[in-house]
Amino acid sequence: MQNRVQNLIKSKVSLAPMAGITDYVLRSMVRQYSQNCLLTTEMISSEFLAQVKETEIIKRDENHSPISYQISGHKPHLMNSAAKFLSSRADMIDINMGCPVNKVVKGQDGCALMRNPDLAAELVRAVKEGTDKPVSVKFRLGYTYDELNYVEFGQKMQDAGAEFITIHGRTRSQFYSGTADWKLIRELKHNVDVPVFANGDITSIETAIQCLEESEADGVAIGRGILGDPTLIFRIEHYLATGEKLQTPPLKEKIQMIKHHLNEEIALRGENIGIKFVRKFYPYYIAGIKNAAKIRSVLVTEENYNNIIMILDELAR
Ligand SMILES: Cc1cc2nc3c(=O)[nH]c(=O)nc-3n(C[C@H](O)[C@H](O)[C@H](O)COP(=O)(O)O)c2cc1C
Repeated sequence: MQNRVQNLIKSKVSLAPMAGITDYVLRSMVRQYSQNCLLTTEMISSEFLAQVKETEIIKRDENHSPISYQISGHKPHLMNSAAKFLSSRADMIDINMGCPVNKVVKGQDGCALMRNPDLAAELVRAVKEGTDKPVSVKFRLGYTYDELNYVEFGQKMQDAGAEFITIHGRTRSQFYSGTADWKLIRELKHNVDVPVFANGDITSIETAIQCLEESEADGVAIGRGILGDPTLIFRIEHYLATGEKLQTPPLKEKIQMIKHHLNEEIALRGENIGIKFVRKFYPYYIAGIKNAAKIRSVLVTEENYNNIIMILDELAR
C-alpha cells in the first residue's frame, strides 16, 4: 500500500458505503467490534450538500477514524465544495463511481462516470483541490460486460490523483444480480500502484479469504454481509490475525444488538422515524430462527416501542 493510505488503513477489511444502511448508528456498531477498519459513510450527494449543510449523514464520533466520507455528483465545482466542507471531519474522501441506480446514472453520477473517464478524472482533481486528505474512488468492472474498462479506468483515476480504489466485481448492468467476479479484480490490482480493496458478495470469513486469494487485492470491502451481523468485519480481521474462526453471535447477543440498534436510531431520528428505520434490519438479525417469517411480519408493522421490546425479549428467552 502507498504510505499515506497505509498509515491510515491498518485493516484489510473495510465497511462499504450503503445508502440508508451504513448510517452513523451502524458505523458506530461496527466500530464497537473493529477498532481499525476503514468506515465509509453512505454516499452524500454534492448537490444536496450545497443546499443543506446540517445532516445526520455526516455525523461521526472521535473513535470513528479512520473514516471515509463518500460523495457523489458530476459537477466538479460542487464536488470541490463538498470536499472542502467535509475535509475537517474526513480521513479520506471517496467518490462514488459505481452506483447503478437509474436515477443516479441518468444524472451522470455513479457508474455513468465509467462511460465518461475524462469527467471522472476531472472530479478526482477537483476533489483533491478541495482537501488535503487522501482521495479515493469506488467503481465497478464497467458499465456492461462489453465495456469492461476497469483497468484503464483505475489507471486514469490513479493518474488524476486517486490514492485508493475499491472495486465491486460486477458491471453496472448487472446491478446486484449474478456473482461478483473476484478473479477479474486481480488485473486491476497488478496494473495500478495504489491499494485496491475488492468488493462484492463477501458474507463470511471463508468468502473473504477466497476473495483475497482470487483477487490478490490488498483488502476486502464488506457491504451487505454486515446486515444482521455487525461483528463480521472484526471476525474476519481476527481470523487474519490469529487463524481462529469466531462464530456468528448467538441469537441472545443478536437480540441485544437489535435493541441497541433500535435505541440508537430513536436517539438519532426520534421515536417514530427510528422505529420505522430499523424495520429493514430485523429480517437479517433474526434470519434462520424458528418462525422467523412470522416474527418478522409482526416486527415490521409494530409501531409501539414497548411492544417491540417485549417481542424481542421473548425471542431472547
Ligand atoms: C442498500 C444498498 C445501498 C448502497 N449504497 C451505496 C452507496 O451509497 N455508495 C456506494 O458506493 N455503493 C453503495 N452500495 C453498493 C455497496 O457498497 C457494494 O458495492 C455492493 O453492495 C456489493 O458489495 P456487497 O456484496 O458486500 O454488498 C449500496 C448497496 C446496497 C445494497
